Amino acid sequence: MQDVLPEGGVIRKLWIGETAKYRDHLLRLDPESRHSRFGGGVSDDFVRNYVDLSLSLEAVVHGFFLDGVMRGAAELRPLGRGFPHQAEAAISVEKPWQSHGVGSALLRRTLLAARNRGYRLLHMACLAENRRMQQLARKFDAELSFDFGSVVGEVESSRATPLSLMREIMADHHGFATAMLDLQSRMLRA
Ligand SMILES: CC(C)(COP(=O)(O)OP(=O)(O)OC[C@H]1O[C@@H](n2cnc3c(N)ncnc32)[C@H](O)[C@@H]1OP(=O)(O)O)[C@@H](O)C(=O)NCCC(=O)NCCS
Repeated sequence: MQDVLPEGGVIRKLWIGETAKYRDHLLRLDPESRHSRFGGGVSDDFVRNYVDLSLSLEAVVHGFFLDGVMRGAAELRPLGRGFPHQAEAAISVEKPWQSHGVGSALLRRTLLAARNRGYRLLHMACLAENRRMQQLARKFDAELSFDFGSVVGEVESSRATPLSLMREIMADHHGFATAMLDLQSRMLRA
């Protein structure tokens, strides 16, 4: 399915050396969005430490980039040794870009990445009052089941296939090519 994104925006994986882009995006979230993203009020220092920890745990982060700035992110983080087929997913979109399809596109990419890494169960910490996230998850009813009765939703992802692996590789190539074109046009404009 084709993603509908705000004009000029691209979704791609975060590259090595782009930690600051992810951290700055999370720090820019308005208080309400930050509260929803982390399941409570957290300090700037907490956010900084969180990003360092996530990236050291080999999280796969997809970003929504506009003019080279990360305005949305979806993180897929393995739960660790004791839980080889389980991961945690979390999404954030900065307020001016919410309700424009960015969250849906990020969740779609994250589900594909989860599937291709063999994660069978995806945990999403979502506050019970977070209607927006619940609406978003419902759009993927066919691919996932989500229990909103509890704070943590459990998502079952399908098995990887050659086609699903190819879809991720093609999306990565497309993201790279678009980012290079975007960089070139910004350099020409400067
Ligand atoms: C939850 C969040 C990720 C959704 O991202 P988004 O870019 O706004 O989502 P989308 O635009 O793709 O909308 C997805 C669905 O949410 C629903 N939705 C969108 N805006 C809404 C609003 N203002 N109120 C209620 N539902 C809304 C719609 O059903 C929409 O689907 P549709 O466009 O097909 O009707 C984003 O709002 C956000 O970052 N919130 C703060 C952090 C957070 O709560 N993270 C989740 C914890 S893991």
